[in-house]
Amino acid sequence: MASLETFDTDRLFAERLRFIHLNELNQMHQNHQVMATLGGIRSDEETRLFILNNLYHWQSHGFGLWVFRDKVTKQFVGRAGLRKTNVEGKAEVELAYALMAKFWGQGFATEMGRKILQVGVNLLGLQDIICFTLTNNLASKRVMEKLGFEYEREIIHANLPHLFYRLKV
Ligand SMILES: CC(C)(COP(=O)(O)OP(=O)(O)OC[C@H]1O[C@@H](n2cnc3c(N)ncnc32)[C@H](O)[C@@H]1OP(=O)(O)O)[C@@H](O)C(=O)NCCC(=O)NCCS
Repeated sequence: MASLETFDTDRLFAERLRFIHLNELNQMHQNHQVMATLGGIRSDEETRLFILNNLYHWQSHGFGLWVFRDKVTKQFVGRAGLRKTNVEGKAEVELAYALMAKFWGQGFATEMGRKILQVGVNLLGLQDIICFTLTNNLASKRVMEKLGFEYEREIIHANLPHLFYRLKV
């Protein structure tokens, strides 16, 4: 049974983001390969702020990011979740995901995303979720398509062109 605190997928275990995840997020945020499509690496201080902002998001909205681990080895695989955002003046709920590079190409982002969408729809009652990615992030584009998102338009986000997708239940 999924709850908002913890849930699992076939291969992964998810726990709500907490400040104790700082070291693992630092590892991710200081990895050039992972952060190349996420605005570049972040300092320790920026990651603390990232966590604080995301904890505040949890407090304010009752949902946010989860940290995912391999069920067997307990290794940190990545972070993913749902976040309120504003796109071109419209309030939206976004699916976000990022994985440590050694776990890429094994279907994990799709596995996380599929479960998060179920949580969003079944536990949070969301009916409209968006996702966007840099136009050259073909792996993320493919993840969105595998999850059933439909292409809507190109947008400019953080001064860069992004592909904007939407999933309506
Ligand atoms: C994008 C990211 C989340 C993908 O994670 P992942 O676990 O490798 O994704 P999955 O394995 O579930 O699916 C990836 C799909 O993209 C495809 N793909 C990967 N690289 C590709 C490329 N260069 N061109 C086309 N398709 C590509 C894979 O073949 C796979 O599709 P398939 O199952 O049909 O074969 C991961 O690379 C990541 O964390 N990147 C850094 C952070 C990031 O960009 N996050 C998204 C921001 S919007």
